[in-house]
Amino acid sequence: MKRALRVTTGEIAAVPSGLLCFPAVRRHQLDGLDGHHRDTTKRAGNIGREQVRQLQEAGHDIRGFDRVAKSRAMDYEYIAGDLRDLYTVRQAVGGVEAVIHLGAIPSDRHGCADDVLATNVQGTWNVLLACVEAGVERIVNYSSVNALGCVGGYKEGIHLPVDDSYPRHPHSPYQISKHLGEEMCTAFTNRHGLITLSLRPVAVLYSENYHWCRDAVKRGGEHGKVEYWAYVDRRDVARAGVLALTAQGVKNDAFLLSARDTVIDIPTQELVDTYYANTPWIKERATYLNGETYRALLDCSHAKEVLGWAPEHSWRDET
Ligand SMILES: NC(=O)c1ccc[n+]([C@@H]2O[C@H](COP(=O)([O-])OP(=O)(O)OC[C@H]3O[C@@H](n4cnc5c(N)ncnc54)[C@H](O)[C@@H]3O)[C@@H](O)[C@H]2O)c1
Repeated sequence: MKRALRVTTGEIAAVPSGLLCFPAVRRHQLDGLDGHHRDTTKRAGNIGREQVRQLQEAGHDIRGFDRVAKSRAMDYEYIAGDLRDLYTVRQAVGGVEAVIHLGAIPSDRHGCADDVLATNVQGTWNVLLACVEAGVERIVNYSSVNALGCVGGYKEGIHLPVDDSYPRHPHSPYQISKHLGEEMCTAFTNRHGLITLSLRPVAVLYSENYHWCRDAVKRGGEHGKVEYWAYVDRRDVARAGVLALTAQGVKNDAFLLSARDTVIDIPTQELVDTYYANTPWIKERATYLNGETYRALLDCSHAKEVLGWAPEHSWRDET
């Protein structure tokens, strides 16, 4: 039986209820921003759907929020609205204890620069402000590895492995938007005491598109170099979202989320020697690689320490 949403705030670990900004339905979306029609059904899923599934499984009540109309598949409270509209965001967060903020233009490819900034920066500002006004205790903010600026090939990598201490140098509109999202989270924690945890997934994959990994080796190591051949399974990402809702002893923090291995069947040692031979290491290389042939170059030990999170899924187990 579902619990009612609490109107007052309380101990989140004891009485969980969440609000999500999430992708709602598979649909055809005509996206004229860059002159192209985009068929989002081809993406065959998204983080929000898995997040909802895992939150429901964990017994959380959910109120969804997205710009798309409610569909029959949504068996929970839902409000349709635009993140850029503070007034509907206020309605959406009223009476919830925590927010998982997934709503965004999720890459530079999905929108023109001003739309990315308006949605991701103004939208995140609106969510944070509405949370403070409504007395919401905690927000789990879906940021991205892009907040660091280390992916995309805009600048030589500063160090390996890439971890949460990496000095941020965002370049593209999407990267800047995710960086500013994290900065706003820090400011709201410092000023208002709102607990803000940002998740920094790398490219999120799921079983249906693991064939990309099988084919990666044919494309060669050069292909995934600027992304450090990184990926993370959607189920692992959503599990981090659930853990971040209840993690104790943290006020404001950010966590890289990567699989333990790379997307490619070329040993990591060989990839580093070929493509990152001059990049300095901040950990002893052999110790970090740990004898694991395909060890990821993204280090998630911070998520393990604070959230108790470690990736459980690998494409190698499913293909
Ligand atoms: N997919 C990845 O590889 C990846 C990697 C790192 C971080 N992220 C982040 O995770 C989050 C979820 O990503 P996703 O891949 O599920 O993307 P998605 O596009 O599937 O979901 C984003 C949702 O936001 C909604 N949205 C967009 N603009 C809106 C607006 N103005 N008002 C209300 N809703 C709006 C969209 O309708 C969509 O349903 C995003 O913040 C994204 O930046 C994704």
